[in-house]
Amino acid sequence: LDNGLAKTPPMGFNNWNSTKCSSTFNESMIKSIADLFVSRGLKDAGYQYVNIDDCWALPQRNAQGNLVPDPARFPNGIKSLADYVHSKGLKFGIYTSAGTKTCNTAGFPGGLGHEQQDANLFASWGVDYLKYDNCNNQGVDAQQRYKAMRDALLNTGRPITYSICEWGRTGPPRVWQWGKDVGNLWRTTGDISDNWNSMIGKAQANRVLAEYAGPGHWNDPDMLEVGNGGMTATEYRTHLSLWAMMSAPLLIGTDLRKASAETFGILTNHDVIAIDQDKLGRQATVVSSSGGLVIYGKTLANGDRAVALSNETTAAATISTTAAALGLGGSSSFTLKDLWSNASRTTTGAISASVPAHGTVLYRVSRAGVTDRLEAESATSSSGS
Ligand code: GLA
Repeated sequence: LDNGLAKTPPMGFNNWNSTKCSSTFNESMIKSIADLFVSRGLKDAGYQYVNIDDCWALPQRNAQGNLVPDPARFPNGIKSLADYVHSKGLKFGIYTSAGTKTCNTAGFPGGLGHEQQDANLFASWGVDYLKYDNCNNQGVDAQQRYKAMRDALLNTGRPITYSICEWGRTGPPRVWQWGKDVGNLWRTTGDISDNWNSMIGKAQANRVLAEYAGPGHWNDPDMLEVGNGGMTATEYRTHLSLWAMMSAPLLIGTDLRKASAETFGILTNHDVIAIDQDKLGRQATVVSSSGGLVIYGKTLANGDRAVALSNETTAAATISTTAAALGLGGSSSFTLKDLWSNASRTTTGAISASVPAHGTVLYRVSRAGVTDRLEAESATSSSGS
């Protein structure tokens, strides 16, 4: 959506993956997350949005027809929470559904038919991001429902990043075919869970949709599970590597109050985040995929390439490609920087690594000695498809 927002994929936090609707989801938690964004370097790494998900409201609107924050979870309301998040130099996001009720079975009120009233309320609270779900939609056309909220948000005059939580259950056309003019991001998959099969399944579904992503409009394979305990550190590094290659939103889904140093280390890897946040905004394409060994290539704004050598199998394997296969010519010497180990080496073109089971080796590939900016060339060359 051309609203000036999400020129790079949104980065932040959302409570859903760690709390669902449990009582741990409350004002105290969200304030602590904002505090930790500052004290643990997440804000410095680029994470910006602190977002709340379903179950924040009471089951009924008030006499004026407005949504009401659940006083047990949010005793001081949403505006005071948004003010707190803003006081830390961060942005605040909220959730509702483009139906009569939200997705949780408890059934909190949705925005269908209340679009402008709800958008106005969110804007008056200082909301900067809306995740708009698709449940209980009464069979009303999806584009019609999502455009109604897009227009309502624009009418408020407040810049609000608009996240379409619809993943092609309706259509054709599927949401990625119409989302560009409607939202800043759209889900491409069902809900992620904290295990390898779920995570890699989302990557497999999302990686074939590269042509639809770009600045202001992103494919969203769902929020991060890094730190939630159901995968190994190797698998979580694969998760972040692939999301970065696919220019996916990076919404932390773990309760940072309980996160380990290793989790913070994965989430704040600046070199990996730079691949996600690259200004060119070009989602990686699949260079090759055979027997669970998958090579992703991504063209970057300065002419470098990022390459992910990703092993979806249960045994270590050597995975190999070349600079030429990534569309990188014009030099006989290249620098490979391993973005997880930090080691650099030079190569005449061969790119190869031994990759552990479920692991991903992520390199930034540069032309050695080529210091000029290569935007023009990278904008016209193939990204390796
Ligand atoms: C849907 C969404 C999830 C979450 C829940 C809340 O399942 O896909 O991300 O927002 O609703 O009920």
